[in-house]
Amino acid sequence: MNRTRTIFYDCDTGIDDAMTLLYLASRIRAGAVDLAGVGTVHGNVDPLTGALNTLRVLELAGIQEGVPVAVGAARPVAQDVHYAADWHGTDGLGDTHLPEPAGRPVAEPAAALLVRLARAMPGELTVLATGPLTNLGAALLLDPELPSLVREVVVMGGAFDHPGNITTHAEANIWHDPEAADLVFAADWPVLLVPLDATHPTAVHGDWLDRLAAHDTAAARFAVRVLSFYVDAYTPVLRNRGAVIHDALAAMLMLEPELGEYAQRAVRVELRGKLTRGTTVWDARSLPAADTRRPVRVAVGGDVPAFHERLLSALTSL
Ligand code: RIB
Ligand code: CA
Repeated sequence: MNRTRTIFYDCDTGIDDAMTLLYLASRIRAGAVDLAGVGTVHGNVDPLTGALNTLRVLELAGIQEGVPVAVGAARPVAQDVHYAADWHGTDGLGDTHLPEPAGRPVAEPAAALLVRLARAMPGELTVLATGPLTNLGAALLLDPELPSLVREVVVMGGAFDHPGNITTHAEANIWHDPEAADLVFAADWPVLLVPLDATHPTAVHGDWLDRLAAHDTAAARFAVRVLSFYVDAYTPVLRNRGAVIHDALAAMLMLEPELGEYAQRAVRVELRGKLTRGTTVWDARSLPAADTRRPVRVAVGGDVPAFHERLLSALTSL
């Protein structure tokens, strides 16, 4: 298997998605990642804003050349669209209202770009998804052969033995489009799911933030600036100055799976519960698994110090 991971990154560029793009930029420079394309989706912000934010970060990191950024779904399959301005700002980057990027998104819709890239490199493309899964659901409907063409799907989303973050039980990415998420977990492709159970313990705190702020690189200054909004939103939840950079953990475990701990179980999404719609559900009983769905590899833990050091190194090396 090729050492360099060729990836399609589907995101709702927001603040932790932006940190993930900077982490990927450091891995691109190290030759570990080839970024074949980016798709944006409703979630933290509308997908056009997400695409312009993505272009801002790609240009800041100097990795925009040859990377198509495609605008994707502006709404979920079966519910109203919902943005997360309280966590990411109205502009998706902490209300920093940065200058327009030089580049523009491509005309091709994100789901079509994903299908075209997967067909062009059968078995090679890894899909990293850190927003609602509407584009992946649309791509599955567009091309039923997609699961056989994709090397792996890595998703930040869900919550199992951990409270939800947008409702009592549901995590935001899954809750934003439960129908699309259930299509993703029902498809016959290898899925690595990185839920709140794994991301919340990786919260960064004052010491880490102060170490980042001590660096005077363009990427570090940008990260400090946009993270400050996110830290203000997260500090009351964590009862300590800090934030959870969820999406970057999914990218790290995609590239270094040995840094995580996993359970293998079929995953479904509650679509009808009045109180539980958007909740990820697995059968954790010790009985033989009765669910015929392909099991998903679910991260239930990760090497927190390794995550902190790798992310800090990435943000300060660009
Ligand atoms: O629940 C956390 C997820 O929702 C992250 O991907 C964050 O960016 C938001 O999209
Ligand atoms: Ca996200």
